[in-house]
Formats: sequence, structure tokens, C-alpha cells
Amino acid sequence: MKNTAIVGATGAVGRTMLSILEERDFPVAELRLLASSRTAGTKVETRWGEVEVEDLATADPAGVEIALFSAGGDRSKEYGPKFAGAGAVVIDNSSAFRMEPSVPLVVVDVNDADAANRPRGIIANPNCTTMAIMMAAGPLHRAAGLRMMIATSYQSVSGSGMKGIEEMLRQNDALRPNASGLQSGAWEDPGSEVYARPIGFNVLPLAGTLKDENYTDEEWKLVNETRKILGSDSILVEPTCVRVPVVVSHGIAATMWFDRAIGHDEVVGLLEEAPGVQVWEETVPTPLDATGADDVLVGRIRETVGERGGISLWAVGDNLRKGAALNAVQIAELVVTD
Ligand code: A2P
Repeated sequence: MKNTAIVGATGAVGRTMLSILEERDFPVAELRLLASSRTAGTKVETRWGEVEVEDLATADPAGVEIALFSAGGDRSKEYGPKFAGAGAVVIDNSSAFRMEPSVPLVVVDVNDADAANRPRGIIANPNCTTMAIMMAAGPLHRAAGLRMMIATSYQSVSGSGMKGIEEMLRQNDALRPNASGLQSGAWEDPGSEVYARPIGFNVLPLAGTLKDENYTDEEWKLVNETRKILGSDSILVEPTCVRVPVVVSHGIAATMWFDRAIGHDEVVGLLEEAPGVQVWEETVPTPLDATGADDVLVGRIRETVGERGGISLWAVGDNLRKGAALNAVQIAELVVTD
């Protein structure tokens, strides 16, 4: 039994972490929920009794053994090392520590063994888009050696937290009465705060913030986290990250080439064997199908027709579950049993 804390417990991912701890019967001794002063004092009903949300800024980390962090990178940077210093294993959902050499970056069912080597007491949870495609790419890489991947994401608004969902719903409401305007281009801008352009009834072909070489931070995560998780710096990744007006679940259309040619049947066989993956060949898996599910759904598996010998596929996963909260809890399960 472990004293367990969720930092960012009132957010979209934090709430999912709590329900997954409950569903999976995680061996919680004492549960602590932490968030900002805005929600401190709120009472939450859990299967371990009623828990009052504490203010992270003033909470004492003493006694916490496992801390699941999802309150933004700045909170992770400031409080993650404090919790680890007080004896907790910190499982961090932010990007704060992902690329630190002394912090393992773990997709459970892909590179579990890395979790045991955590000199700072911190384990990083990968980015939600990378997570979904790694569930498909990992088993194929092990079998044939991934050489190059061209990946385009279709990322839902819940990836930006509750505020992303709220912005899309508000813009949908504002734009819906103006269907003729949407056809003719005569629409009134509903105003955007979370994204640079309206996401309601729209697609934004630039998810994240522009960084080096005109690629976004989300795109660089796909490049760098793929290499770290699969343990090979020579893998070439060409990413495009797109935000779509979907509430939950991220899809990734990827084309991959390996050290040797790989065919449809071999890929289907490998992915059918892979834990946490479902192959859908009859029906196309969509974000609505993936939402609420633990598995990543893989469909549209087909051999390349341009540069032959590779494979194209579509992977879609619940970004709040496997893409964040579920993987974090699965890492915690590895920690409990190691
Ligand atoms: P709060 O609800 O008190 O603001 P999301 O990304 O879904 O919006 O969730 C963000 C989570 O991170 C929430 O639980 C939020 O708590 C928490 N959080 C945000 N800022 C802080 C902060 N300064 N200190 C502690 N928790 C924070």
C-alpha cells in the first residue's frame, strides 16, 4: 500500500488519474489531492473516502510515496524535485523533465524496463501524441528497426486542458447559427484565447508553439521523445501536428520505413500480439471509438505505394487515458512491483 498524491487533481488529466486509480484498484494507503489555491478546500468523494483538495504551494510532501503530477510544467519544475527529495517517486505528466538524461521516459508496454533506472526519483510520462503512435511503432521497431517515420497528428482540444474544450464549445455555439456564412466565408470571428485561430468548425495545422526551424514544440516532442523511448537517436521523424475540433482522443497518420521491408500481414500479426493495442481491420477506428478505452486502436494498415517496403497506418488513443493518466498509473504500478 502506498501513500499516493495527485498534483493537479482538479484538471482534466488529474480527474482521470483519480478515476483510473479507482478502477484499477491501485493499492492506495492514504490519498492526497493537490491543486491551486483556487480550488483548495474543495471536497472530493473517492473510494478511499472524502478528500479535501490541498493548496500545492503550502502542502507538506512528507510521507508521500507516489506523486502523480499533472499541473503544468512550471509546477513540476518547482515542486517535483521537492516531492522526490521528500522520498516520493514522482511520475510527471508535463514536458519539464522528459528529455533529461537522468529521467526515464516510459510508455508502459513499450519500454517498461527504463522505469527502474530513476536516479532523481522522477519518471516522465510522454507527450500524448507520441504515446499513441509509440504503442504501434514500438513493437514494429523491435521486430524490424524503425528507420524513418512521417507522422501527422489530429489532436483533440482536451490536450489543451479544460480551457481547450470550453473554447471549442463556445465557438461552435457562436458559429452554428451562421451556417450560410460558413459556406460563403462570411463568418464572424468568435474570438480565440487558447488557440491563435478559431478551432470551432475548423482545423489548425499548427498545434503548439513555433520553435526551432519552424516546427512547433509539439512536433519536436514527437521527434525527440520517439528517439528516447525507442532508444535510438538515428530514427528520422518528420512531424506535422494539427489541432482538430474533437473533444477527446488524438489520432496519428504515420508512414514508417524500417531496416528491412515489412508487409501488411507481419504488421497485423505483431500488433495483434502487442499488449494495449487493438487492430481494427473491418471498421475504421475513430476518436469517438478510442475515447474511454485503455487500448490504442490501429487501423488502415497498408503497404506503401511510393517508396516501397514501408507501412502506413492510423493510430488513435484517448489522450487523457493512455496518452496521460492511464500511462502514469501504469508507471506507478511498475514502481509498486519493482
Ligand atoms: P486548479 O483547478 O486549482 O486551477 P487543466 O490543464 O485541465 O486545466 O488542469 C490544470 C490542473 O493544474 C488543475 O488541477 C489546476 O488546479 C492545477 N494548477 C494550475 N495552476 C496551478 C498552481 N499554480 N498551483 C497548483 N496547481 C495548479
